Amino acid sequence: MSRYKVPRGTFDILPDQSYKWQFVINAFREVARGFNYREIITPIFEKSGIFERSVGETSDIVEKEMYKFEDKKGRIFALRPEGTAPVVRSFIENGLMLKPNSSKLYYLGPMFRYDRPQKGRYRQFYQYGIENIGTMNPYADAEVIAFAYMFLSKLGLKNFVLQINNIGCKNCAKDYDNALKEYFKPNLDALCSDCRKRLEKNPKRVLDCKVKSCKEIARDAPSMLDYLDDDCRANFEKVQEYLNAMEIPYIVNPKIVRGLDYYSQTAFEFVDTNLGAQNTLIGGGRYDTLAEQLGGKNMPGIGFAGGFERLLLSMEEEKLPFGLQQKPKVYLVSLGDEARIAGIKIIMELRENGISTEFDPDKTSMNAQMKAANKTGTEFALILGENELIKNKIILKDLGNGEQKVINISDIIMSIKDK
Ligand code: HAM
Repeated sequence: MSRYKVPRGTFDILPDQSYKWQFVINAFREVARGFNYREIITPIFEKSGIFERSVGETSDIVEKEMYKFEDKKGRIFALRPEGTAPVVRSFIENGLMLKPNSSKLYYLGPMFRYDRPQKGRYRQFYQYGIENIGTMNPYADAEVIAFAYMFLSKLGLKNFVLQINNIGCKNCAKDYDNALKEYFKPNLDALCSDCRKRLEKNPKRVLDCKVKSCKEIARDAPSMLDYLDDDCRANFEKVQEYLNAMEIPYIVNPKIVRGLDYYSQTAFEFVDTNLGAQNTLIGGGRYDTLAEQLGGKNMPGIGFAGGFERLLLSMEEEKLPFGLQQKPKVYLVSLGDEARIAGIKIIMELRENGISTEFDPDKTSMNAQMKAANKTGTEFALILGENELIKNKIILKDLGNGEQKVINISDIIMSIKDK
């Protein structure tokens, strides 16, 4: 037994799982290329104020879940709980608005939230996300949603529903907040203690609460859609028009409010109906004041993020393929000292030519080496004994059908590449 265990809410991704991660990451990168998003990589920790100012003091993330720490000079940092604020920080800092091809960005990497771990919810989790910064055009909203839709569809997922909403802008959201306060006031005692606080600071968040009694009370709450001003309404209609043109199925759900304070207007979630409590695969929306909150120019943006863990759970639930596990193609079996040295030269050449090759220096007998070759699932064994070496030959054995032939050492690459 190991003396140390992985921290609660975190996990190791072991080799027989990591190929699945590589598979979905590759698929994500491919979709990103199709939509012309380029990768941005930001640090894993940032000044904590970046999140406090944007994700918001009243959000669960900032209020309870941030891994905050002081460095040796007394500066307060946070392990990033999400990727949008850091990307916008970098966008402003590096003047990306002036650089060509730099307004559509994607990112991949670990995020950290101190929450109670459960299936689909971890303290270190891995997000994939995109941000499109600098445009108010509702086409951008539809395109961001289309990216997420194409990604999930490309993986073969079917059990998901896209829910969209418009949560209004600075102008119209206030009236709605007041309407919500009025609505919930008579039921104050039945709301959970978190929601009682939310009602004061950010009433919309009550609609997002997962507590059963809060959900029940919220069922007949006024709808944001009845409070949208003309611009927001027109914007929402345009987004839907574009989604219809792209043949992306969705439902309008006025209860989608998202848990981060920086959102305005379009908000959306992709929900897997089979996944249990933590069933939001992807969440995103528009954030038109975030850049300003971080000290930049008024610059709108829209994006989404999803967690790879939930994605993999969904794919497993739907029994979808993850491609093949990595295995060596060739196993070198060498017999005797001279053949071993010659064999080492051969495997270097194979690897230089992109042919994955394994060799175990601890095994010397034919039997032990062949057994090991079969165990790794290798396709071919190259068997080199002193007799073959004298004639510059080697035995190529197909471990699938057991066939073997003697070939010239100089023909190895050609013979294997052909297969
Ligand atoms: P979020 O809704 O906080 O949004 O997270 C997005 C997704 O990350 C969730 O839908 C879920 O798949 C995954 N996720 C969140 N927390 C956890 C956790 N503790 N364990 C496992 N997975 C988790 C954001 O983070 C925004 N930055 C999204 C965004 C980008 N909005 C605009 N641009």
